[in-house]
Amino acid sequence: MKKSLRDVEVKGKRVLVRVDFNVPIDEQGNIVDDTRIRASLPTINYLIDAKAKTILISHLGRPKGKEERFSLRPVAKRLSRHLGREVHFYPDCVGDGVKNKVKALKEGEVLLLENLRFYEGETSCDEEFAKKLSELGEIFVNDAFGTCHRKHASVYLLPQILKPAVMGFLLEKEINYFRKALIDPQRPVVALLGGAKVSSKLGIIKNLLRRMDKLFIGGAMAFTFIKSLGYEVGSSLVEEELIGVARDILDVAKKLDVKLYLPVDFVIGKEVSDNTPTKVVPWQEIPKGWMGLDIGPVSLSLLREVLRDAQTVIWNGPMGVFELDRFKEGTFQTAKMVAESPALTIAGGGDTDYAIHRAGLYDSIDFVSTGGGAFLKLLEGNDLPCIKVLDDKD
Ligand code: 3PG
Repeated sequence: MKKSLRDVEVKGKRVLVRVDFNVPIDEQGNIVDDTRIRASLPTINYLIDAKAKTILISHLGRPKGKEERFSLRPVAKRLSRHLGREVHFYPDCVGDGVKNKVKALKEGEVLLLENLRFYEGETSCDEEFAKKLSELGEIFVNDAFGTCHRKHASVYLLPQILKPAVMGFLLEKEINYFRKALIDPQRPVVALLGGAKVSSKLGIIKNLLRRMDKLFIGGAMAFTFIKSLGYEVGSSLVEEELIGVARDILDVAKKLDVKLYLPVDFVIGKEVSDNTPTKVVPWQEIPKGWMGLDIGPVSLSLLREVLRDAQTVIWNGPMGVFELDRFKEGTFQTAKMVAESPALTIAGGGDTDYAIHRAGLYDSIDFVSTGGGAFLKLLEGNDLPCIKVLDDKD
């Protein structure tokens, strides 16, 4: 078990909090989705109430040097609004100017520093850069779950230099839900996996096979599995080099007595476009020149059956090309089923998160992870390096 923010005395201390404010910002500089900002509020509010001096550090996007459009300034404004108090902003994250600003901080005040990735040392995990950051605080808090798979200076090295180094409440919550879903779940536990490529989900499928009671594989990934059973899938996306692997996975599922389901019908089209003609066909009848772009209505009934007695449900990956109106139904209906399930429901991954927001169901799912890549790494069964380096409980 790792130490949490509750385990340290923060009053009057300079607390350096690594958050993940990597939020989408449009061309006009408006924050399109502030879920990640809101997710860090419990930690920040706790520090304010406990009269700490809070210094927030984060990255935003993947800038090449100091690119103004990746500035965290708009985030400071949005955070101020959520906290109902001023959040100071400083347009740099290391150096004398920052140090002076930090020195002037009063108890209960909050300061957000500029994008860490304006310095190459952040992503190259440079020790000097981490040391400079460490001089700003007396306590390190990691609340940046979404970044915990990256061995970057502020999340990986900094907690090894600046002690104590503890978990923030968001990080704690993410880990607790992950435990409930994967390590010690109420059974039956069901995973719904979607997405385009088997190659990007292979580690997850292999890990979940050993942990789930049922596994539903939808999205374009399904076609590589269907092909492995010897059926034609028209011009649907298939990873030829993984057909053998898909076959092995089906065999292993049988051996382990894990029920692995594939879609039984598809909405097909001639191209990935809202203007293409479409039809619904059974899984083994996709004609030449047509491709599967969403799961069909009978698959959704099957999915409902699969979920019927579930006690725990994990969902990652869209069931079709949900960005297009003609092919969004499978993913949106899946979101609805997960939201309506009385089971403990956990979802995560960039596309899944986006689909849940678009379906307007964010608040109906028990827990939607703030992690994209980090959530996937956990599903693969990997430890996250930036959590490992935090202090253990005594
Ligand atoms: C994310 O959005 O997944 C994290 O903030 C990490 O961002 P990165 O993929 O640019 O490292």
